[in-house]
Amino acid sequence: MIRNSLYTFFTVGVLLCIFPYNVMASKDDSSLRTTIHLLDYISRDYTAAVQNGQVIDEAEFAEMQEFSDKVYVLIEESNLPQDNKLLILSQLKELGSQIEKKAPHQSIYNLAQQTRQDIIKTTGLKTAPLVWPDLKNGKSLYVQHCTPCHGVNGAGDGKLAAGLKPAPTNFLNDTLMQEISSFQAYNTIKLGVEGTAMQSFATLSDKEIWDLAFYIKALRFTPQADKNSELQQKFDQANNAVNLEEVATLSDVELVKRLSNNDSADPELLLTALRTQSPGDNAQKYSLDKARNYLKSALQNYTSGRYSSAREDALAAYLEGIEPSEARLKANAPAFTASLEQQMFEIREIIENKGDKAQVEKEIDTGLAMLRQAEEMMQDKKLNYWLSFALSASIMLREGLEAFLILALILALIRSSGLKKAIPWVHGGWITAMLLGVAGWFFSDWVIGISGKNREIMEGMISLVAVIVLAFVGFWLHDH
Ligand code: HEC
Repeated sequence: MIRNSLYTFFTVGVLLCIFPYNVMASKDDSSLRTTIHLLDYISRDYTAAVQNGQVIDEAEFAEMQEFSDKVYVLIEESNLPQDNKLLILSQLKELGSQIEKKAPHQSIYNLAQQTRQDIIKTTGLKTAPLVWPDLKNGKSLYVQHCTPCHGVNGAGDGKLAAGLKPAPTNFLNDTLMQEISSFQAYNTIKLGVEGTAMQSFATLSDKEIWDLAFYIKALRFTPQADKNSELQQKFDQANNAVNLEEVATLSDVELVKRLSNNDSADPELLLTALRTQSPGDNAQKYSLDKARNYLKSALQNYTSGRYSSAREDALAAYLEGIEPSEARLKANAPAFTASLEQQMFEIREIIENKGDKAQVEKEIDTGLAMLRQAEEMMQDKKLNYWLSFALSASIMLREGLEAFLILALILALIRSSGLKKAIPWVHGGWITAMLLGVAGWFFSDWVIGISGKNREIMEGMISLVAVIVLAFVGFWLHDH
C-alpha cells in the first residue's frame, strides 16, 4: 500500500515538474517571436509608408509607429537579462524616433535588422528547423488548411479570397516573395496577422509549420521542378555552400547573393534547387547539420550566460545530431568516431564546469571542425545497402539476445520458486511485447515526425514508465 502511494507520488511529482515549465517557456517564446516578426515587417514594409522623407500612405505610416511601439513594450515586459534589455530598448527608441523623422528606408532597415539580430542572440530563439523540412507533407497541410484563401497554386485566388480585404497573399508574386524568408513565413503562420483573415495556426506543430513555410516558398519555382534529377544534383552543390539555417532565414535575394560569390554554377538555378528539393537519400548526413546547429546555439547561449540552455544544447548535439549517424561513421572510421564522441564529452564537461568563455569557444570550434571532417567521410564512402542492413541487424540481434536472457532468468526463477501459475503470464507478456513491437513499427514514422520538444517529452514519459515497471518488477521479485 505504502509502496503504491510512493509510486503515485513519484509519478505525479515528475509530471508536475514537466508540464508547467513547458507552458511558461512557450509563452515568453511567443512574445519574443512576435518582436522578431514585427521588426521584419517594419524592415520590409517601411517603403510603403515613407518615400523621400514624405509619408505616402497615412495608414501604413501609423502601422509603422504602432509596431515599433509594440516591440518596445514587449521587450520591456520580457525577462531578458537587464544589460541586454537596456541595449535593445535604446536601439528601439532610436528606431521609433527615426520613423518619426521619416528617415530613409536603408537606415530603418539596418536598425530594425540589427535589433532583431540582437534579440535572437540574447534569447537564443531558434530561427531554423532542426531537420530539413518535408515539402510533400507541406503540400498536404497546405491543401488541408490554406487553399480556401491562397488558392490551389498559391496565386491568392481561393474560393474565399474574393471577399477579403486585405486580399490573401499571392505566393507566386516574385517581387513580394523574393523578399520573404522561410523564417518570416514561419512566423506569419505561427502568429497570424492581426486584423486580417490570416489567423494563427499555432495549433500545428513546429515541424508542420516549417514544412508549410518551405512549401509556400517553393511554389514560385514549381514550373522548373520537372528538371528534377538535374536539380537534385545542384541541390547538393548549393547545400554545400550554405547551411540549413541560412536557407531558412535568408530571403531569395540574399541567398542568390550568397550563392553567387561561391561557385561557377548559375546562382538562380542553385536557388531553385534549394527551394524545391530536399536532401533525400542523404538524410543521415543532415543529422550532422543538426549537431552543428546545436553546437552553435550552445556557444551562443553560453556567451550570454544561459548555462542550462547551453548544457541542453550540447547534449542535444550529441543525442540528436551525432548518434543517428554514429553507426555509419563507425563503420567508416572507428577511431575518428571515438575521438568525435570524446570531443562532444569534453564540450559538455567544460560547460558543466563553467569554464572560461574563450575555452568553451575553442572546444566548440574543434567540435565543429570535426563535424566537417565527419561529413566528408560520409560523402566519400557511401555505405552500401547490405552493410547498413548488417549493422541494424546486429543491433536487433543484441537486443533480442538480451531480452531472451532476461526471459530465461525470469522463467527459471519462477520454476525454482514453484509459482507455476505465473508462467502463462510471462509467455503472455513476451507475446504482447512482440505484437506491440509490430504496431510500433507502423507508428514509428509518426513518432519520428513529431517535433523535437514533444519527442523529448515522449521519450521522458516512456523512460518514466520503464523505470516504474522495472522498480515494480524489482520489488515483486524481492517479495516472492
Ligand atoms: C481565411 C483566409 C486565409 C487562410 C485560410 C490562410 N490565409 Fe494566409 N493570408 C490571408 C490573408 C488575408 C493574408 C494577407 C495579410 C496581410 O496582407 O497582411 C495572408 C497572408 C499570409 C502570409 C504572409 C505573406 C507576407 O506578406 O509576409 C503567409 C506566409 C500566409 N498567409 C500563409 C498561410 C498559410 C501557410 C496558410 C495555411 C496554413 C494560410 N496562410 C491560410 C488569408 C488566409
